[in-house]
Amino acid sequence: METLGYVRRDLHVLHDWCKHQFDMKQMSSSNLVFNRTHKWFKHEAILTKPLQIKSGNFDYRVTRLGNLIYPGWDCALLAYYRPGGCMTKHRDHSDFESLLVSVNIGQATLLINDYPYNLQDGQVIKFNSHIPHELYPVTSDRWSLTFRRIKPQYLRF
Ligand SMILES: [Fe+2]
Repeated sequence: METLGYVRRDLHVLHDWCKHQFDMKQMSSSNLVFNRTHKWFKHEAILTKPLQIKSGNFDYRVTRLGNLIYPGWDCALLAYYRPGGCMTKHRDHSDFESLLVSVNIGQATLLINDYPYNLQDGQVIKFNSHIPHELYPVTSDRWSLTFRRIKPQYLRF
């Protein structure tokens, strides 16, 4: 895991933006994530094998931020965890490129390869998502905005 930087000056704007997102979806019967809703930007990736790709939401702020912190990104996932929300240990879908870039909004403890990282509000990180990782249950509202690339052979027009 590597920290790329911190959203600082616009952190309150980012919080407001997160709180005012509508149409957040529930993940259908997942035994991986709990107490979480989400929303896809640019492309929506449906986690079948192979990945199914649909068009996602558009937001110029997401586009601008993604282009800055992960040029060439294909999809962004905004995930909202209510208190108690968590993710059990998993590896991300193999049709995604392994590297992801994620903005942490709120407080969270992320385990990567069983090593705990206490993420700060606004912290921007990158890590290899094909390594097992896990999110401890959060104690207060927490969002992540995660940018991924899809392996070129799975992209559709
Ligand atoms: Fe993951």
